[in-house]
Amino acid sequence: MNHFQYRDKVLFAEGVAVPEIAAAVGTPFYLYSAATLRRHFSAFDQAFAGIAHQTCFAVKSCSNIAILRLFAQLGGGADIVSGGELYRALKAGIEPGKIVYSGVGKTEAEIDQALAAEILMFNLESSQELAVVQERAAALGKRARISFRVNPDVDPQTHAYISTGLAKNKFGIPIAEALAVYRQARQLSHVEIVGVSCHIGSQLTQVSPFIDTVAKLKDFLARLAAEGIAIRYLDIGGGLGIRYAQESPPEPAAYGAAIRQALGEMACTLILEPGRVIVGNAGILVTKVLFTKTGQKKFIVVDAGMNDLARPSLYDAHHEIVPVVRGEVAAEVADLVGPICETGDFLARGRELPAAGAGDLLAVLSAGAYGFTMSSNYNSRPRVAEVLVNGDQFHQIRRRETYEDLVRGETIPDFLV
Ligand code: LLP
Repeated sequence: MNHFQYRDKVLFAEGVAVPEIAAAVGTPFYLYSAATLRRHFSAFDQAFAGIAHQTCFAVKSCSNIAILRLFAQLGGGADIVSGGELYRALKAGIEPGKIVYSGVGKTEAEIDQALAAEILMFNLESSQELAVVQERAAALGKRARISFRVNPDVDPQTHAYISTGLAKNKFGIPIAEALAVYRQARQLSHVEIVGVSCHIGSQLTQVSPFIDTVAKLKDFLARLAAEGIAIRYLDIGGGLGIRYAQESPPEPAAYGAAIRQALGEMACTLILEPGRVIVGNAGILVTKVLFTKTGQKKFIVVDAGMNDLARPSLYDAHHEIVPVVRGEVAAEVADLVGPICETGDFLARGRELPAAGAGDLLAVLSAGAYGFTMSSNYNSRPRVAEVLVNGDQFHQIRRRETYEDLVRGETIPDFLV
């Protein structure tokens, strides 16, 4: 359930008409609904009510500091994968003690930054990384709280690019080899073992791969316990999918119930790292039709391109396209394409699209996750504005970039002057 609904013929975000926002901020822009964000966060978090848990929102999916602040106010923590994300999370007011740091390639500078911030834990992915964390923690006079990300070799049955829990993926430590790194870590002076973590992939539409994973994790916890290694946090990652088109992923409540049942009695705190399921359907991308072209095929050319929303080009992802103002004319099959100089620049292909002409506004749905955060300046296109609606008010939470922003940091060296 989200708060993007038509009133009569016009698309509204909560109490605000989308054309009104377009007139104020120009197009394209990402538009989020605060009520939807709150609702999705709470639905997810409440699926684990009654057991010790911490929801750590996956910052990579939607990283605007206003949105992070909204989650912080609901008790949310953060799952980060870079120093930049740590910076954002802290700036937004997320408590350091609710931040977990995932990722396969953390630099020394990033590790230092996270040690200084005293985050909840590092999810480590190799014994080499363990050695660096031990070394940096010793140098800074800190004790790093750590978990190892184990790779359970479970097929998440999702797009190959976003599967992470198969043995052939670059992530984690094979679960069969993980005991060895825990033994190693136990010997180290500046490292404190606090957890076990795992993340098997994204946009999962079934609960069974999660359940298989939890079973393997439970076995592993028992092996750790037998060695006298006590775990305070079990981090099962994110990955719950959403409905883009015809998918029917489990609702958060069903997902939560299944996980809880699979976990059974557990002495540690559960950590969850949801991204998409919270923000995906809480955001849309609003774009304007520039031209239409009819040749062998019909093309609708809009002002948003693959640099603004990479998912269709990169993963062949499906996003529903709807008119911002509903017309009377029947839909027709067309490609919705952007202004980028590549044939791979499309938002939809061979689809029944709303009949639209120059100047009409279209909304690309389910764009809240991995939308703005994956956007780029390719073709020297300023990144678009982000707007947050709250009730009958809208707020620009990121202004559209300017040409000055495009060249900020660039210099012409003396020999060229
Ligand atoms: N935790 C870790 C360690 C992750 O790597 C990810 C996502 C998440 C949590 C959050 O997963 P979610 O709940 O959002 O599924 N750009 C792709 C998705 C990449 C996901 C990467 N990792 C897309 O647009 O579909």
